[in-house]
Amino acid sequence: MNFEQVKNKADNALMPTYAHFSVALEKGKGATLTDVEGKEYIDFTSGIGVNSLGYADEGWINAITEQAKKLAHTSNLYYNPTVAEFAQTLCEKSGFDKAFLCNSGAEANECAFKLARKYSFDKYGEGRNEIISLVNSFHGRTMATITATGQEEFHKYFFPFNDGFKYAKANDFEAFKAAISEKTCAVIMEPIQGEAGVFPIEKDFAKAVAELCREKDIVLIFDEVQTGVARTGKLYAWENLGVKPDVLTSAKGLGGGLPIGACLAMNPFGEVLTSSTHGTTFGGNPIVCAGGLEVLSRIDENMLEEVNKKAEYIKEKLSDVEEIAEIRGMGLMIGLSLKNKTAKEVAAKCLEKGLMILTAHLAVRMLPPLVISYEEIDIGIAILKSVLDE
Ligand SMILES: Cc1ncc(COP(=O)(O)O)c(C=O)c1O
Repeated sequence: MNFEQVKNKADNALMPTYAHFSVALEKGKGATLTDVEGKEYIDFTSGIGVNSLGYADEGWINAITEQAKKLAHTSNLYYNPTVAEFAQTLCEKSGFDKAFLCNSGAEANECAFKLARKYSFDKYGEGRNEIISLVNSFHGRTMATITATGQEEFHKYFFPFNDGFKYAKANDFEAFKAAISEKTCAVIMEPIQGEAGVFPIEKDFAKAVAELCREKDIVLIFDEVQTGVARTGKLYAWENLGVKPDVLTSAKGLGGGLPIGACLAMNPFGEVLTSSTHGTTFGGNPIVCAGGLEVLSRIDENMLEEVNKKAEYIKEKLSDVEEIAEIRGMGLMIGLSLKNKTAKEVAAKCLEKGLMILTAHLAVRMLPPLVISYEEIDIGIAILKSVLDE
């Protein structure tokens, strides 16, 4: 199929929920993608933080293929060795006690909300059910997670939204304290607000919030759907903040390209959701877990160091670009504020020249595969600079 054929079929059959770029991608290798017309692109997006090992990674392909040959899916009513191995490895590596496996970031957050409300219900009874999220946060597209998302533009059309969500300004502890009440059962925050434009949470704010949560027995949830799985140069970004949450949600890069979500919890929070209080048909699917195991097996000190080195390399290369007002982020989650150009026009021009790059509100955003090579970085940065210098 050529581009027009792909576009026609897709536009006829898919709900128009995405403003597609005029590119149909067919295959990839490393951090380089090829479209149906044979044009190559350096990928600074990794499918919005998903393809942590890049494309066509041999270890990952072998892992999921071998699992597919053995057993693709089984109900969560039965044990499976790959699922058990993955859950144990994830808990061990992340330092959490228990995991609930699901299919997406939004589902992982839904699980965290249910867990927090049930924890509170079990201990304090009805009425203590409010969840505080931060202004400009993003937590997903399901009804509860768009409600939790602290951006007005998401709170349209779909009324009535869920009860029991309140918003507090990020990095403003007094405002946060004012939002807390005797009804608060949980707080959710992203260590770096990705969709808002790559805005890191300040360490002091995170620490003060964590202390208050401990004091008042409020469940502290970190949404690490975008920041997790080595993206920020640590397995999870809380390690950079020095604040460990009670509950952590992960997704995106964890499966290396297959749909996955995980809600991780420290005990006693890991014991709250019991038989028949939560579940999923596909979550923790053996093939997905085989992919996840491969991803986790590749994240070691060496890889984390490389992520940090590549991040510094990219930042250094961009340091002399006149058009850039600010470079933000941690590890390979990088946001650029621009002086005159819009992020949208930059992304569109980069694409024409063979670089896929993301936007997040007003910022240009980079989430390259963690395994991107220096050669690929050089090509991508040369394209980005040429567009920013125009
Ligand atoms: C911080 C954060 N939370 C939740 C989500 C939702 O994840 P998913 O699209 O897998 O449901 C995203 C997606 O971009 C995200 O960045």
